[in-house]
Amino acid sequence: MRIPEQVIENILQKNDIVDVISEYVSLKRVGKNFMGVCPFHNDKGPSLSVSPDKQLFHCFGCGAAGNVVGFIMKIRNIDYIDAIKFLADRVNIPLETSSYGDNEVEKIYEINIQAARFYYSNLKQNSDKIKYLLNRGLDLKTVQRFGLGYSLDSYDALLNFLKKRGYDEKLLLKAGLVSQKDNKIYDRFRNRIMFPVFDHKGRVIGFGGRVLDDSKPKYLNSPETPVFKKGTNLYALNFVLKKGMPDELILVEGYMDCIKLHQHGIENTVATLGTALTKEQARLIKRYCNTVYLCYDSDAAGRTATLRGIEVLHSEGLNVKIINIPRGKDPDEFINTFGVDEFKRLVEKSLPAIEHLIFASKENKNFDDPRDRSNFIKEVIDILKILNSEVEIHSYAAKIYELTGISLQVILDQLNKAKNIKSNNWNNNYVNRNNNIGGNNFIEPGYKKAERKLLMLILKNDDIKEYIIQRINKEDFITPSYKKAAMLITERGLKEFNDIVKHFEEQNEIQDVALIFAEEDLTTLDLETIEGFIKTLKRTNLERQIENIKLKIKEKEKSDGYDELLYLTKKLEELKKQLSLL
Ligand code: UTP
Ligand code: MN
Repeated sequence: MRIPEQVIENILQKNDIVDVISEYVSLKRVGKNFMGVCPFHNDKGPSLSVSPDKQLFHCFGCGAAGNVVGFIMKIRNIDYIDAIKFLADRVNIPLETSSYGDNEVEKIYEINIQAARFYYSNLKQNSDKIKYLLNRGLDLKTVQRFGLGYSLDSYDALLNFLKKRGYDEKLLLKAGLVSQKDNKIYDRFRNRIMFPVFDHKGRVIGFGGRVLDDSKPKYLNSPETPVFKKGTNLYALNFVLKKGMPDELILVEGYMDCIKLHQHGIENTVATLGTALTKEQARLIKRYCNTVYLCYDSDAAGRTATLRGIEVLHSEGLNVKIINIPRGKDPDEFINTFGVDEFKRLVEKSLPAIEHLIFASKENKNFDDPRDRSNFIKEVIDILKILNSEVEIHSYAAKIYELTGISLQVILDQLNKAKNIKSNNWNNNYVNRNNNIGGNNFIEPGYKKAERKLLMLILKNDDIKEYIIQRINKEDFITPSYKKAAMLITERGLKEFNDIVKHFEEQNEIQDVALIFAEEDLTTLDLETIEGFIKTLKRTNLERQIENIKLKIKEKEKSDGYDELLYLTKKLEELKKQLSLL
């Protein structure tokens, strides 16, 4: 859903930040601002400051900050759009779809329902297709409940069916049910078993279609449409919610896995449908429960997906356990072979994610063999890197010591080393996560403060702006959110918080931007202080380049790329010289 900017502006205007926050926290006026106990960390004194002038909040204790939308996102754990909807609702601004050209969206939902009915009736008339589903262990009740269907082996069956009902071709194209080639329009799904995809409210947003044999692609899915967005939805969540949300969710990969588990009474199951789990999906889960069982295939791809899934779920604060299916099977095949009771036993035996990963890495390794030991340490370091809390890291390091006799100090040293090396590459997830200054056990790097001060100064005064821009450019910024803010401010000329923050949707990034505006002005404006900030950025950038080159040199030393080694060494000297001249 797209909400026009004027409407968002109106929503922000009517939701005064002091009013909104005081619904959650009791606020006292102190001078120009209001203060209260911060709801985002274990606050003792009142560290939360709310500015009615700037319409911003900021916690001096945990660093949480933002505008009214950011506050609602954080406190209700919802995404940007839902926070806007929530605030619209709060002040009775109607957002019904029809008033914003979303008639089309409603029509697409309608078309999808019609298509699902059509596919379902095709299935009922094709007993050999029903047989396929029965052979795969589904019963008719399940087929009906999940609305499974069949798309005829025809180029225009659905097209004609829907045209007869008055829907025009353009809309069918938009709904992703037909495709177009050289002016010819034809059914997208042909001769496939059809799985309607529902959103959490039970609306049909798209389809997946499976071939009945071994041809490729095995599944064809709806393209992105105004109602079908990859990575924002979880298959079967609507059925789960109907029952009332359980404390725990089981996450599987495929349509069949999910449906099979539901059929056998394991009704707290949802599927990601083969794509990597996204932050949005993790947030969607977090809205309803706190613990997730990951149950992906046990093949190599499944293992990678598991690792990535753990990382995403952890970073949204969810507990993660791993259901380990042995022998390269998926949940559907496992249940077909061993039965659902055996599956339930696997659920009982599931381990917390990190423990599972450590045990899995330990398997088949002989700790007397130095190579195995070193591989194990490498793998374990990759696992521990997922963790943010020092306490957790130490307790797992202790566990590893118990399991293997590898000393705590070795593990912690290696971990620190790995973290430093990784943070050279500042586009990766790891750095992003640690730039989140909301966390309690994180100390903000000095350069980030410098970036923020510089951006604040650029915004305050055009003369200083010119001076700073002559000395650095946006590429010198390190934190991704500040790099982007620098671009928006210096190149696009944006000045107001609300204009800048529109370009950000992640909670962390909104917070970063808000902190620019919360930053205090310099008491006296001396160039020396400003130069200090600039130097900090330049130095950090040079140090990172140097670390990177050193790494490359180490790699090259192993092979024998002599010319390149020479080049790298020269480059290293040059960078070091630049650094010493700063
Ligand atoms: P799998 O290949 O594990 O298939 O893909 P599956 O779910 O076990 O399917 P069956 O049992 O052979 O029928 C997992 C999920 O990845 C998506 C689908 O959502 C599938 O359920 N997928 C897979 C695709 O979108 N396209 C493909 O070609 C394959
Ligand atoms: Mn399968």
